[in-house]
Amino acid sequence: MERVWTLHYEEISWEDLSLEEREVVLAARHAAEKAYAPYSSFLVGAAARLRNGSLYLGNNQENAAYPSGLCAERVLLFSLGAQGLIPEIETLAVYATLLEEPVTPCGACRQVMYEYQRRSPTPWRLLFGGGLSPRLYRLMGAEGLLPLAFSWRGK
Ligand code: THU
Repeated sequence: MERVWTLHYEEISWEDLSLEEREVVLAARHAAEKAYAPYSSFLVGAAARLRNGSLYLGNNQENAAYPSGLCAERVLLFSLGAQGLIPEIETLAVYATLLEEPVTPCGACRQVMYEYQRRSPTPWRLLFGGGLSPRLYRLMGAEGLLPLAFSWRGK
């Protein structure tokens, strides 16, 4: 049996964003400016808006022992996880300052997003932007980002 994986996403401009969405993208841009990325100089920020309207930030944290570093998305999500706030996520924005197209999360971050999304009651609104890009990507739900994602005991 042939099966097909389809991802629905929008390619939009800044004007297409709601005021709340703009706030989250701006927060992710703000977070990117505070990234610790002396080795790659690739600044990435992530921001989450919770149901109660509060904003949380993450950014990439690098280290001289390269694999010890972590992407912006996982810095944010693990921090939210530590505070028991994953089920409260409404919107998640990721922003990289240097890119001419919207940044899209790496495979490892997609795996983490996949599992946390499944522990959330509603699909997250995802927004991806790039500092040199006039366009953004918008989609609903993180599960679709990783076809055939690994899951253990259905978690
Ligand atoms: N990076 C992120 O933080 N998020 C992404 O989605 C892509 C890559 C970071 C990891 C590393 O610090 C730098 O960008 C270069 O890969």
